Amino acid sequence: MLKPNDKIALLTSGGDAPGMNSGLLAAAKVGFALGLEVVAVEEGYQGLIEGRIVPVDRAALEAATRRGGTLIGSARSKRFMTPEGQEEAKAQIIRHRLKGLIVFGGNGSLTGAHALRNATAYDGGPFGIVGIPASIDNDLGCTSMAIGVDTAMNTIVEACDRIADTAYSHQRTFIVEVMGRDCGYLAMTTGIAAGADAVLFREGKKTDQELVDQVLRAIDAAYERPSGKKFVLVIQSEGVKLASHTLKEQIDAALKNRNQTIDTRVTVLGHVVRGGAPSAFDRLLASRFANVAVRALVQGQTQVMTGWMMPGQTKPACPFDPYIALWPLEEVLRETANMHVADSPLVQWRIAALAEAEKVLCF
Ligand code: F6P
Repeated sequence: MLKPNDKIALLTSGGDAPGMNSGLLAAAKVGFALGLEVVAVEEGYQGLIEGRIVPVDRAALEAATRRGGTLIGSARSKRFMTPEGQEEAKAQIIRHRLKGLIVFGGNGSLTGAHALRNATAYDGGPFGIVGIPASIDNDLGCTSMAIGVDTAMNTIVEACDRIADTAYSHQRTFIVEVMGRDCGYLAMTTGIAAGADAVLFREGKKTDQELVDQVLRAIDAAYERPSGKKFVLVIQSEGVKLASHTLKEQIDAALKNRNQTIDTRVTVLGHVVRGGAPSAFDRLLASRFANVAVRALVQGQTQVMTGWMMPGQTKPACPFDPYIALWPLEEVLRETANMHVADSPLVQWRIAALAEAEKVLCF
């Protein structure tokens, strides 16, 4: 249990996600309201190792809540991955008299939070750590949404709408590559939302030839349609092993063999998808996660992550928010690993749903 004047720290780690600033602001406000001292760790675990821990600048956060990225900086610290780095981080926790830590991030960041499970506070008492899922990839188990996903989806759909304008004008095929290293969620959802003709994602485990055939089927379907669509939108997840430019070359070769003169272009959206003002949903989600995280820390909870209601979830919601449950980090990391090898029922459902969708997407 935390007492008034106890000090908690906020940390953002891994790939930034739009909405992180709203989460930081909400955590600070709730912490202050509960009488806590709230500080920020600069640039993720690297900053923790180096003891770069500063007071929260509430006014700056209030301004930043409308912006993407993270005001307190993020990093992928190699040093923290080592046992020595983790010991240095634990020493800083004691030196700065921290009693709790809230970590905003994805798989790597929450793995880091788990690595600190034996940390103790300066008074020898327990040190609480609560994770908040924040990653545009939506690649974490035990939460249906992570901070940043909604904004990223909106950015992709907007980009695809723009690309569709030029695609139909030139009767072209466009392969749009979107982020998602270990998880094709962004490609899958925006494929539906943007009205794509084909969606390519790694979880499907298709061979290169199967991917090429899928795109060719989409092209045939578009051109054979009585209304004559004459352009094709393909959304490819970054995690697909066949690089989008290589896929294009193989499509070009196949079309040449068939004496078809259809142009294919590739657009890699890359980091564009990670930036931008957070959507209303991401601001709200981040604020609600942060509210729960601070209150859970105060209650003495540790090694848990806030999760947004899961399909078929039987775990009861936490007392602070009927849409949020607190999941043990161990379970989150196990479920995340299952998702990445496409071994979880949810991912299996997504694969089956997309296979069904493929039958209707291009007709
Ligand atoms: O944050 C997740 C993510 O955006 C992945 O989709 C992507 O593969 C990776 O980060 C890119 O990382 P970096 O910004 O370090 O290049």
